[in-house]
Amino acid sequence: MVGSGGREHALVRALLASPARPRVLCAPGNAGIAQEVTCVNVAADDVPGLVALAQRERVEFVVVGPEVPLSLGLADRLQALRIPVYGPKADGARLEASKIFTKQVLLKYRIPTAAAAFFDAVPPALEYLRTRAIPIVIKADGLAAGKGVVVAQTLAEAEAAVREMIEAGRFGASGRRILIEDCLFGEETSILVVVSGRDYVILPTSQDHKRVGDGDTGPNTGGMGTYSPAEVVTPELLARIDREIVRPSVDAIAAEGIDYRGTLFIGIMLTPEGPSVIEFNARFGDPETQVVLPRIKSDVLALLWAASRGELAGEQIAVRPEHALCVVIAARGYPDAYPKGDVITFPVSLREGVSILHAGTARNAAGAIVTNGGRVLGVTALAPTLRAAADHAYAVCEQIKCASKYYRRDIGARQLLRR
Ligand code: AMP
Ligand code: GLY
Repeated sequence: MVGSGGREHALVRALLASPARPRVLCAPGNAGIAQEVTCVNVAADDVPGLVALAQRERVEFVVVGPEVPLSLGLADRLQALRIPVYGPKADGARLEASKIFTKQVLLKYRIPTAAAAFFDAVPPALEYLRTRAIPIVIKADGLAAGKGVVVAQTLAEAEAAVREMIEAGRFGASGRRILIEDCLFGEETSILVVVSGRDYVILPTSQDHKRVGDGDTGPNTGGMGTYSPAEVVTPELLARIDREIVRPSVDAIAAEGIDYRGTLFIGIMLTPEGPSVIEFNARFGDPETQVVLPRIKSDVLALLWAASRGELAGEQIAVRPEHALCVVIAARGYPDAYPKGDVITFPVSLREGVSILHAGTARNAAGAIVTNGGRVLGVTALAPTLRAAADHAYAVCEQIKCASKYYRRDIGARQLLRR
């Protein structure tokens, strides 16, 4: 397992639950993952180091969590050595690494998405802005850890974002190319699809909470909490998403000559006119994975293995009817500056169905578990109702002690209030 976040902790748990009883190694992992499997201190973006580790340990299967090693060609290198890997090669990871490439694919194959134009110079971008409605969305082309998107509420804000990206190069060289995209309105949902060429399996639906503050306020983050299922995606709507978005996207990727074997994460806006693609990611979502995997009754290792081998045709998964909810505990200040090294104290026991997944944690010199990242923990609960899942998760959030502890109080509220 490659990676060190809550997503990877959830994946490690799912792999360990397989009847195949695998021995799991994680690089680099975190303090929580290290309580369950062997962690090796090789960074997730150190492609030569990871390849050497896989060879040295005679690893039989690599599951890649984050996007960076994928876009750096980790899957290409492993495949060349005949080491099976779950996660796309660099050509497939471009669907996340270049928003312009993705938009071109979506437009070429007439997959529903917002109208957009591409720029690498300020004057034509400003000219285009004046022809569009406000709010308007400005996106840097390259990977920006979820920060390269500005939903501008005024023309001035849009112009400032354009200048910051193209002139000031706030998101690096690739971020000097931008995309100006019409704003979509509606509720968002994350559709995770296990893809193997033209075959795929859609995983249970979920909804993320991207803004840092209650009531969807404040800056965008990597995700502050999730729940599954997202009931806003009714079976009829999911069938429409499959027909209009998933099937055409998987076919488009194959038609572009990409042999995609990994997770295709489709961010979708449920607009009044229908579902529309916001983005593709080339990996599992974080914290979507923390609520999606616990609801899968089937062997997740077997599923990912089949996808990596091109043997996904006809695969189906059994899904638990229970609701899952994950509250992310962050270090206060995230997504901007935040402290590290605060000691965390955990409850002595957890009720059935509740788990604490680690994200940014480490051990200090004294052996205590301390904060070591912006998103620190994820408290996940599986229960017969979403209300119960929320109650169980929040009870544990209160019990966890940590000086810089911060979490949203309203994860799942949208679905709970709709009832
Ligand atoms: P992304 O990095 O593409 O996931 O964008 C981050 C967030 O910005 C998304 O989760 C949406 O909330 C928002 N966003 C991106 N594109 C649009 C759009 N065209 N209309 C409205 N909101 C958007
Ligand atoms: N939670 C959103 C993401 O993983 O990109």
